[in-house]
Order: sequence, then structure tokens, then C-alpha cells
Amino acid sequence: MKNQYRTNLCAEVNESNIGQKVTLAGWVNKKRSLGQLVFLELRDISGIMQIAIDAEVSPKLIEMVAKIKNEYLIQIKGDVVLRDKETVNEKLKTGTIEVRAEEINVLNEAQTPPIYVDDADKANENIRLRYRYLDLRKPSMQQKILMRSRLYRIVREFLYEEGFHEIETPFLNKPTPEGARDFLVPSRVQPNKFFSLPQSPQLFKQLLMVSGFDRYFQIVKCFRDEDLRQDRQPEFTQIDMEMSFVTGEEVIDVNERLIQKIFKEILDYEIVLPIPRMTYDEAMSRYGSDKPDLRFDMQLTDISSIVKDSAFGVFTSVIKKGGSVRGMNVKGGSDRMIRRDLDRLVKVAETYGAKGLAWIRYTAEGMISPIAKFFTDTEKDAILSALGAEEGDLLLFVADKHEVALTALGQLRLHMADVMEIERKGFVFVWITDFPMFEYDEEEKRYFAVHHPFTSPTEHSVELLGKEPEKVRARAYDIVVNGVELGGGSVRIHKEAVQEKVFEQMGFSKEEAWEQFGFLLEAFQYGTPPHAGMAYGLDRLCMLLVDTENIKDVIAFPKNQNHGCVMTGAPTYASAHQLEELKIKTIKVDENDD
Ligand code: AMO
Ligand code: AMP
Repeated sequence: MKNQYRTNLCAEVNESNIGQKVTLAGWVNKKRSLGQLVFLELRDISGIMQIAIDAEVSPKLIEMVAKIKNEYLIQIKGDVVLRDKETVNEKLKTGTIEVRAEEINVLNEAQTPPIYVDDADKANENIRLRYRYLDLRKPSMQQKILMRSRLYRIVREFLYEEGFHEIETPFLNKPTPEGARDFLVPSRVQPNKFFSLPQSPQLFKQLLMVSGFDRYFQIVKCFRDEDLRQDRQPEFTQIDMEMSFVTGEEVIDVNERLIQKIFKEILDYEIVLPIPRMTYDEAMSRYGSDKPDLRFDMQLTDISSIVKDSAFGVFTSVIKKGGSVRGMNVKGGSDRMIRRDLDRLVKVAETYGAKGLAWIRYTAEGMISPIAKFFTDTEKDAILSALGAEEGDLLLFVADKHEVALTALGQLRLHMADVMEIERKGFVFVWITDFPMFEYDEEEKRYFAVHHPFTSPTEHSVELLGKEPEKVRARAYDIVVNGVELGGGSVRIHKEAVQEKVFEQMGFSKEEAWEQFGFLLEAFQYGTPPHAGMAYGLDRLCMLLVDTENIKDVIAFPKNQNHGCVMTGAPTYASAHQLEELKIKTIKVDENDD
């Protein structure tokens, strides 16, 4: 990477260059002064090279170096030499050599940086985001961003090889009533009207299938106005794809090979194919989650049939109302959790939606539990056997509506894995299939699509539309790894009549459906091929590949919790002139509400 400023990149110089003259350009990473001898660490995108400046060789250079501070941008010319044995640095790629400086040019000075440009920096996140361009100088940050760049390349090469075409879809779109909240953009040319930024290119990629492009992909920004979490950003990136004349099997096949290639090339990690599959119902009943972490066991068990006639009113009344009692065995948990911990655990369960948590410590003295007295010996034995309990185990139970009991225990399962410090190694992938098509929203009193309304119901359940919506299953699949939903997709509806029925089930009248999605319904009238697709959260994939819990680590310029960019100050107020042009009046709010 030779250019007018340099002959080599710092860390690309090696022992084969000994005896040669090189010119390097980079930032001063560190300076160590031993009086007559000064060492500089010079850093560029490739890594670090030690520069030695010797007073005996050039007293002028020593004077000059005295003025050079960390993060100065300098150019140096000199000879590559072998380091003395005692100064070899095993940690550096270039640790056996150094460059003896003959000439130094300061290309640009630097203020004292507000953060320490080093992986050991302990600055808080806000200041790191404020000076993101300096934060991104840190080697560990650069590695993450460069890994992301490698990922784009692997994905593109693989998908081109598989016959996919990369096609861009618009960002200024028609708002959709489904999904998360939209980001809106006002139209100046058509006053009072708004575009929305895409939550995903879903409809456009389907329309590309109608057009006959056969296989489409895009690495694309998506925008969702949601509350943020560790693994969510308001703008994030999807690897988005769609295929024609396929069933879900072909989509799963291509994606398994893609994921396998990514993990092999980036981490040298071998994913064994095929990736196992589990239905949604199985995942929920065994793990209390549709994105189960399968790196450890701790499965849930339904004990409703054992306790339904017991003397414990809390359990029996829930069962009578159609709910269930689910239990979980925390192996060895009895010794780990004293009474106070258990009281605290009840509070944890409540934060996950449980109305209570019953526990049994199974010890050498038998069951220790506030609820043991309600059960006969036969019931006790049956509970222990159903949960495979051994002395020293802790058994936890939640009684509630199925969904609530399962979800709360599923969350407790993750919590207990942390408490018990259960080792979770490697990557355990699973496809979750046969999702319910709809879920009922109590607040809005209507059904919503679990994936999206363009997902095809299974062949057997099309006829349940309009009759038993809870039983309709979707031809959808999610890829889950270590408890993270990495991606999801489905076989799509490609017949107008079925699409209309799905909208109807969700409470749209025919007119409303046509008003919102007429362009799609119309397109379905012109020979739409069967099609299916999938999208990954690319940021989440990067998080796994670089082993971080924080999505901001893998995005060059992320937003903070407040949806803001700390560095640029976005979002900002629009000027009176801009608002005037857009015909927009704003409503004043308390500054603190920002
Ligand atoms: P879905 O809504 O499941 O599917 O999104 C696909 C994947 O995108 C990631 N993701 C996010 N990542 C970071 N921040 C967010 N706010 C965020 N929201 C979602 C997740 C998720 O699995 N059009 C469909 C796909 C299809 O059916 O082809 C879709 O968007 O990893
Ligand atoms: P109570 O009858 O409310 O005093 O509860 C007796 C025991 O049952 C306590 O240990 C509660 O934590 C537990 N408990 C109460 N409600 C539930 C529930 N919905 N599921 C599981 N355990 C519960």
C-alpha cells in the first residue's frame, strides 16, 4: 500500500525487510524517552512499528521528538533493523524489529486526546461516542469494524455465487400500519404528506420476485422507531434476500451454507449441517422461549396433571381456569440458594410477569418448601420424578396461563444459568419453525401477525382463517443461536385471495386493505411466482462474531439510548425556514422531555 507518504504499512514490514530503508506514516501511539534514546510507537491501520531515535545518530531528531506528543501524525524514514534480544516484544507482530529514524516530518499536530487511544481506555460510553473518531482509532475497535467489512464481502461473494442479484430498494416509502413505529420524513413537494423510512424492504423484494428477478439480495439499512436495548438500534442493517420458485427448504439450505461459510472464514469455527430444527410449540414448552439458548439443558416440565387435584389452591385454581403449572429443576441449586436468595428470586420471577414463584429445595432431609405441606407423598414423588430431582436440586414452579408460565420460567432459566455460573460455550444453532401466524393484542382487541402479514399460512391452516385464528400456523422460520434471534423469514403468500383473507383476519376491511396494500394485491394478479425469503440482523451477527454484548461495538457511528448521535448532536431542531417550507408547525415541549 505504497503511496506518496509511505513505502509500507507499519505492521507489514517484517524481518525480510532488514537492511532496507522504509518510509512510514502514522499516529504516535506512545513515546518512551530514555534520554539519549527515544522510542516511538507508530500506529496505522495495519498495526504498530517501533521507531528508535538515537542522539548519537541525530541530535536534531531528538530535539524534534521532544515536541511530538501522542496522536501527532508523523512520517518517518529510516532503516529496518533487528531489535536487541532483551527489547523484543512478543505481543507485537513487528516485535523483533524496529526502524532507526533518519528523518521525521510532522504531518499534523494533535491536541491531547480526551480519551486514551488504547484498548485499556476506561472512558465512559458517552465520551467515547462524543469522540467516536478517536475511539475508532483503538485497535480493538478497528478490528471489529474491519471484521464487519470482511463479513460484507463474504456475504456478497457467496450470494453472487449462488445466483443472487443485488438490487437497491427505496428509503422514502409509504408508511405501513404494521410492525414497529415508523420514522417519518415530511414531503416538501407534497405538503402535509409523509414518507416513512423502511422497517425492512419486505414488499419491494416481493415485488422484485413478481418482476422475475428470481433471486434478490441486499445489505440494507432498516429503520424502526423502537425503544433501544443492548441488541437494538433505531437504524440497523439487514442481510435481506428473496427467492422465487422455492419452498422454505431451499431458503434454509442456502442460509445454512452461508452461515457455515461465515463462521468458518471469520472464526475458523465448524458448524455441522444440517442445523437442527424445533417447532415453536416445542421451544416454548421445553425452554419457555422462541429463541432458546441451547448451550445448556434445564428444561421446563408440565406438572399440571400431577397437581391438579392437590390441596394447593394456587395451583388447582389456575389449572381449572385453563392454565398450567410448569416446573424447572435447577441442578445443585438447593445448596447455592439460601432463603434470602429465594425470596429475591420470587421478585425476579414477578418482573418476568409471574404472579408468584413456588420453590422446593430437595435436600437430604427431604423437601424444604413452603408448599410441601399441600402435597401427598404420592404427589411429592411424582413431582420429584417428573423433574428428575436429586438431592441438592432446587425446583421452581410457576402457575399461570400457559404463555405467561412458560415465558416467566424461560426467563428464570436464563437468570439461573447466570446465578449457577453454568458454562455456555460455542455456538448452538437451531431453526425455530411452525410459528403461530397471529397473536391477539388485548389493548387493540385484534390479531396481529407474529412475523408479518405477508407470511403464508401452512397448507393445512389456510382454512382456519376467519375461524380459529390462534390455530393458524405460519410457514415461517427463525434462525436462533445461543438465545439470540439472528434472522427470520418465511414462505410468502403469492395469491391475492389468501392475502386478502389474512388482512381480514387482522381486522382490515377489504377497502382498508386495498387502500394500504393495493399495489401488492394488484401485483398478485399478474402471475406472481411462489417465493420465500429471509433476513438477518447483520449487526447481531457481528456481535456474535466479535463476542460482544453491546451492538454499538460493531457499528461505526451508533446511536445512544436516547436515539441520538452524541458526536454530531442529531437530532436537532429544524429552522423556522425549513419548517415553513415543509408547512409544519411544532408543539413546544418541556426541554427535559427531549
Ligand atoms: P425481522 O423483523 O425478524 O424480519 O428482522 C430480521 C432481523 O433483523 C434484526 N433486527 C434488528 N437488529 C438490530 N436492531 C433492531 N432494532 C432490529 N430489529 C430487527 C434481527 C431480526 O431477526 N422482512 C422480514 C424478514 C423476511 O421475512 O424476509 C424482517 O424484517 O436479527
Ligand atoms: P400464597 O398462597 O400467595 O401465600 O402463596 C403460597 C406460595 O405459592 C408462595 O410460595 C408463592 O410464592 C407461591 N405462588 C403464589 N402464586 C403463584 C403462582 N402463580 N405460581 C407459582 N407459585 C405461586
